[in-house]
Order: sequence, then C-alpha cells, then structure tokens
Amino acid sequence: MCGIVGIVGTSEVASRLVDALKRLEYRGYDSAGVATLEGGVLTRRRAEGKLRNLEALLHKSPLAGTIGIGHTRWATHGAPTVDNAHPHASGGVAVVHNGIIENYLALREEAVARGLHPVTETDTEVAALLVAAELADGLSPQEAVGRVLPRLRGAFALVFLFDGHDELLIGARRGSPLAVGHGSGEMFLGSDAIALSPFTDRITYLDEGDWVVVTRTGAQVYDRDNRPVTRAESRSTVGAVMIDKGNYRHYMAKEIHEQPEVIGHTLSRYLDLGAKKAKLPDGAAIDFSKLTRLVISACGTAFYAGLIGKYWFERYARLPVEIDIASEFRYRELPVSEGELALFISQSGETADTLASLRYCRQHGLTIGAVVNVPESTIAREADVVFPTIAGPEIGVASTKAFTCQLAVLASLAILAGRQRGHLSDAQEAELVGALAEAPGRAVQALKLEAQIERLAPSLARAKDLLYLGRSTNYPLALEGALKLKELSYIHAEGYAAGELKHGPIALIEENIPVIVIAPHDSIYEKTVSNMQEVAARGGRILLVTDDKGGEASGLGHKDRIVLPEMPEILSPIVYAIPIQLIAYHTAVFMGTDVDQPRNLAKSVTVE
Ligand code: F6R
Repeated sequence: MCGIVGIVGTSEVASRLVDALKRLEYRGYDSAGVATLEGGVLTRRRAEGKLRNLEALLHKSPLAGTIGIGHTRWATHGAPTVDNAHPHASGGVAVVHNGIIENYLALREEAVARGLHPVTETDTEVAALLVAAELADGLSPQEAVGRVLPRLRGAFALVFLFDGHDELLIGARRGSPLAVGHGSGEMFLGSDAIALSPFTDRITYLDEGDWVVVTRTGAQVYDRDNRPVTRAESRSTVGAVMIDKGNYRHYMAKEIHEQPEVIGHTLSRYLDLGAKKAKLPDGAAIDFSKLTRLVISACGTAFYAGLIGKYWFERYARLPVEIDIASEFRYRELPVSEGELALFISQSGETADTLASLRYCRQHGLTIGAVVNVPESTIAREADVVFPTIAGPEIGVASTKAFTCQLAVLASLAILAGRQRGHLSDAQEAELVGALAEAPGRAVQALKLEAQIERLAPSLARAKDLLYLGRSTNYPLALEGALKLKELSYIHAEGYAAGELKHGPIALIEENIPVIVIAPHDSIYEKTVSNMQEVAARGGRILLVTDDKGGEASGLGHKDRIVLPEMPEILSPIVYAIPIQLIAYHTAVFMGTDVDQPRNLAKSVTVE
C-alpha cells in the first residue's frame, strides 16, 4: 500500500507524476503529494483525501521542475493530514515511502539528538531526517543514503530527491516493490510497471535489498552489500492503457460483468476441452502424484478462494491440504517437509503477509507455487511454478473477477491432481472438465439476476448486522459474501458454516438481522435447509440463494429467493459468487458509499 513514483525528466514532471499516481491510487487514497525541484529548489504540494484534491491544488498552484517524486498514501503511522502526507522533507532532501520503518521511534530520538526537528507523526520522516543529518555532515547524497539504508528496519520502498541535484533520484527496495523505467533521455521509478506504463515499457525490477542511483541517462543498481550489480531489463506487457470504467458507473460493476469472459480466458489455459482433460498452463511443471501435502496461504478474498480449493483438492485428489491466513501462517511455525507444495494465492502478487509466508516456505525447502493475477509481481517472480489467473487488471478495491478466476484455477488444478494421483477415472475427469467449461455461460445467467438483486438492496441497507450461511464449498463463499458486504457498505456481516449456527451464533437471530443462506440443491441441501428452518423458527429474515429445485423445496416465498439455474456441484462457488458480489455492490450503491475505494482500504496490502 502507498504508491510511489519518481521521474528524472526532460520536460515538466508535475502532471506526469499525478498521471502515474492515478494508476497507483488503488494502493491508497488517504492523501497525496508531489515534490519537484523548482529552479533547483525543493518544493512540495500535498493534499488530504483523494488524488483529485492534489490535482485541484496543482491547478491553483502549479509546480514547475523536470525532476520530481510523488506519493499516494494509505496511512499507517499518523492520521491522513496534509502534514503527514508525503513527500516528507528535511534539510534539503525529500522522500516518498511505501511500507513501514519499524525502528522509527529510536531513529527519531537520534535525529532529535543530532539537532533535527521532526514535524510529522509518520515513520517515514526519519528517513529524510537521517539522510539530512548525513548531508549536513558533508556526505554526498549517495553516501548519505548508503549510510542510512542499513539502519532502517522493516519493509519499504523509498525514493529520495535532493535540493540542488536536478539529475538525481535514489531509490531503495526492501520488502516493498520498486521498478526502474528506462525512457529515452529520461528515467523513472515506480511501485509497479502499470504506474510507469505511459512513459515506458522497458522495466528493471529491483531485487530484495537493492538500491539504485538514477540519473537522466541511466541507473546503477547496488545490492544490499553496496556492490554494483546488473539487473535485467525486460519489456512490460501491461500496456499504456488507462484502464477505464467503460459504460459502467464503477470499476467494480465493470469487473463483475467481465467475469464470464475472464473466467473463460483463465479456463482456456487449464482445460483441454477437446481431450476433456485438465492441463497445466504453459511454463508450469508440477507433478501432484508425488505430493504428500498441499500447504495454502493467502489473505482476505484470496484466502477464501484457497479455502474452497481445499475442499476440491481433498475431494477430487485426496490430497491433504493445510491452509491458513498468511498473517497467522508465518508465525505458526508449521512443521513442513520436502515433498509438499506450498501454494500462495494473490491477485496483486505483492501482499506482504503472503510474501512473508512464501519466504518462510522457501527457507524450509518447499516447492513454491503461486496463483497470481499480476505476472510481474514479486510473488510471481519468487515462485517456482506460476499458475496465472487471466482476470486482467482489477481496479475496484474489492476483489471480484480475480476471486472467480482463482477458483477456476484451483478447480482445474484439483481435477488435474485427481487424475495424476489416480483418484479420478477418465470418465470422471471428463465429466468435471465438461462441468467447469460451463462456468462462463452460467456466469452470464447469474448476471441476469442483477435487477432483482438491485431491488433487494434498500431492505438490506436497513440492516445493522447480517449473517451469511453456507455449507461445504459454499461456507467459504458465505465468508466472502460477508467480507464483501462489510467492506463496501460498512454493514457488520459475518459468515458461518450453516451447521455451526446452533453452537452459538443463533442467539443473535431476530427479525432485524437478515440471514442470507447460500444453498444450491446439492448433496447437502437438506441439511442447510434444516439450519435455515431453525433461523425461520426464531423470527429470522431469510434470503435464500439457491437453484430452481432448491427454490421449490425451500418452503419460502418467492420474494425471499434468488434463484439460479441448476448446475454441477463443482460450479456453484464460482457462479454463486456473482449474486453475492452483486448484493454487496447494490447495497453499497444504494447507501452511497465509495464502492471502488471504500474507506480505510487499499488494493495492494504491502505492510504486515
Ligand atoms: C477483499 C479483498 C482483499 C484481498 C486481500 C489479498 O475484497 O480484495 O481481502 O483479497 O487483501 O490481496 P491479494 O489477493 O492481492 O493478495
């Protein structure tokens, strides 16, 4: 979280910095700022709130200069005020930062002892203060940064700009991503290649611990031991498109509607429809038959995808799965051994906790697989085997199409594993592959429920609390439904395994708490319906998400049902995700919340 950018240009940079920040706003939108050298002098503009406030400020009070840095913030230390907005500056140096400097309190005390004056509540400011102190002692910018970097603990990407040096930016990468962009006569730094895509597609990714001295004509990279190193330049494939909303009101709506297409694209990499077999995507090599266990780790929505994957791998491949949220996994000290595959699921490929879990498994000798949507991301680059989702850029902060594409990948891999491990016959595999291939068409049918769901939104919006229930693979979907609703509409929502309700949460049931039950007419439908009746008997207000057969058998009125067509069991979490997303979306739209950028959130969570 937080997006950073730097340009050593040949023309004015302020508007280009803002342009890059627009592409990074998904990483945080509490405040934003830019700094340039105006006539060689460090000058800043910073604004609270969304980037458009900074744009308005620059309109009123333009900033000249052909070198500069920019930042869009997701606050960690200090409220999102102008004072706490980046770039932070002290004694002729300005800095933008993504990440957390964990030992900032001790470093701040040291800076004060050296006669410097902190003016913000942020951790970042110490980086500027300490570099300023070294400059004051007569060191060059490069020497000063080289001396300060090893003293910072935590995870960060930093870009420094120096008063009077209109040829020089210094960047550093430890734990948070930083890319170098090569232009013609110009150079760039940015949190990702998307930010730099309008300027260049020639990208060098820094390795962990690297820092880089950038001038107008090139970049010299140093490793963590300050040795000059060469890092490969590659052509980025992200393209210079400014991803737009098309005819939709929000990115989220567009992304929900893209699902039939992107699920189809993703499945085409994993299914051989002619042979009716699951296959590995190009470039991926893994033999599931030799595995003793699959260890999955991820965060948030990606974790729920993994939880659904666990049911599939155990059911279709008899492959034991250990799964945990990444922020817990990494501290559990899970005993792991060779012969296991560790699988990390991430849309962004940059989530700090997921990355830390990956490195834990790497240290313990496991093979590392990654289901990722951003092929150039750190998680993709650190994995042994990449299983791409072909969802395309996901801009809405709430994950939608990446989730269903993750499910498409996991379902396909579980079928492949089932065959490789001898648990699925050819006929069973063909049946499952045929079922999965129906996903795009079924997703189209699910989207047709939108008008009905929109009509339900006003009554859901009245709730202060809401429960989601589901069983089997629809239990993680209940968790996902609750997460989507709370992050978008700020209604308190919880997901439960339907069978668990009577062990405590049923005490909450009363008429003002809607209970959304996800229950296709599958092998466990009747069990879920019994749980639903327990809710109804206590005055609970039920909304049943089911299929034609389940609707008939439920005993509920028509207005209390969202009815999908019947479909094979393996498909239901993928397709039922769509009404769940639409419920959250339309409730939030009705309530007038900021759907694409809900409060307090960021798309790419690069702090622990
Ligand atoms: C919720 C959501 C988050 C992410 C989580 C992991 O809608 O989007 O819960 O799923 O932050 O992010 P990635 O998948 O980028 O690792």
